[in-house]
Amino acid sequence: MTAHTPKLFVKSYGCQMNVYDAERMADALAPEGYVETQSADDADLIILNTCHIREKAAEKVYSELGRIRKMKQETGRSPKVAVAGCVAQAEGAEILKRAPVVDLVVGPQSYHRLPELLREAAEGRRPVDTEFSVEDKFDHLSRPAPKAIRGRRVTAFVTVQEGCDKFCTFCVVPYTRGAEASRSVAQIVAETERLVAAGVREVTLLGQNVDAFHGEGPDGRAWSLARLLERLAEVEGLARLRYTTSHPRDMDDDLIAAHRDLPKLMPYLHLPVQSGSDRILAAMNRKHTADEYLRLIDKVRAARPDLALSGDFIVGFPGETDADFEATMAIARAADYASAFTFKYSPRPGTPASDMAGQVEETVKDERLQRLQALISEQQSAFARSLIGRRIDVLLDRPGRHAGQLAGRSPYLQPVQIVAPGANLGDVIDAVVTDVGANSLFAAPAGGARDTHREPAEATA
Ligand code: SAH
Ligand code: SF4
Ligand code: F3S
Repeated sequence: MTAHTPKLFVKSYGCQMNVYDAERMADALAPEGYVETQSADDADLIILNTCHIREKAAEKVYSELGRIRKMKQETGRSPKVAVAGCVAQAEGAEILKRAPVVDLVVGPQSYHRLPELLREAAEGRRPVDTEFSVEDKFDHLSRPAPKAIRGRRVTAFVTVQEGCDKFCTFCVVPYTRGAEASRSVAQIVAETERLVAAGVREVTLLGQNVDAFHGEGPDGRAWSLARLLERLAEVEGLARLRYTTSHPRDMDDDLIAAHRDLPKLMPYLHLPVQSGSDRILAAMNRKHTADEYLRLIDKVRAARPDLALSGDFIVGFPGETDADFEATMAIARAADYASAFTFKYSPRPGTPASDMAGQVEETVKDERLQRLQALISEQQSAFARSLIGRRIDVLLDRPGRHAGQLAGRSPYLQPVQIVAPGANLGDVIDAVVTDVGANSLFAAPAGGARDTHREPAEATA
């Protein structure tokens, strides 16, 4: 009798934290014998790792569940189906009612309990676990030797903080991810060192409000994100550090100074503003004004002049007038983004804004979204073009589109295509930008391959 190796397929939607969590789920199931597969078709367990942020994202789950139901009927296969992530947290047992194909529902704080929940599901029960016990999850994450390292990987995410206490009136995250909680510095350093030892060169620290990080340091005190970055910059072999997503209210002077003082910290900042109208910002409960945001950006740029700024915008928040929207266009012009995400306001069940008067017509939202997107994409290509002829470091992180080509990322997070004979994935190349395409830069090596975890050889004349 040969034992069947059960196969796991995790499909993730939403933010980077879900990408990170998908790996933690696989880690939790590896001791049960599960190996990962890339398709639902041969999986014994399908986990939909869902996102609740906008209606469209949340509805995707149900269309995917419909496809799975059909696949089961057509093939006669009977994989177990789990719904995880933020829709699981928000809707809980409702999902079981609406979708009989679902065997279990598990919220983001309970992934370490997957093996147990699967045993219950195997007995024909349909368990729902949406308990909030962040400590448990972080404890679990800190267990030795997670299989965090899959294949030869150059970049990795590390969750350092989860949850949100800000309660922006449009947002579900405080309800789906719970209260803000930070991992300890020791856990984060250990995980980063493990990743780097396995070849990872760039780590992006994740948190719903990453700059609110206040994890316990080795001295028993709460450390800021700036201190954590400083500590991680000491990890030998690590070439680059990033962090996302930050809230303007939590950008302190130390973090700004880190952009000046830490060469490994990339000159890139994702700092959502959502709106340029003070009235709308107040209604959103963002707790800062448009002007305060712009002054903050000035400070960060004073510390790091080549900073690439990114952001998020919502158009059509309840009560948004033409004048409010013009203020959003104005702040986007003033802030001058290298990239930004733009969204139409989507009313979310249970959030204060969904009941506010003055809900904006879909056609108006569409029109505003188009105008803002046009401005942002103009800024994005202007930023890319400004790099032509300039020298940048490129971290090679994947094979390129054509033979002999490698692909990587600029310090500003843009994809870069480069022909660099003799270079390997994981190298940081000193390159010159030669051209810009629709979504990537083209570059050529400037002075030969350079690997920042070794000292560059001094040129001798
Ligand atoms: N914690 C991050 C954002 C997480 S959600 C922060 O505060 O910046 C990512 C983005 O989705 C938000 O910045 C916002 O622009 C958008 N978003 C959140 N809720 C939304 C909603 N109800 N409708 C439209 N966009 C929304
Ligand atoms: Fe949502 Fe606001 Fe928290 Fe960001 S800060 S996760 S937008 S509530
Ligand atoms: Fe979506 Fe949850 Fe992330 S709602 S954006 S998956 S925190």
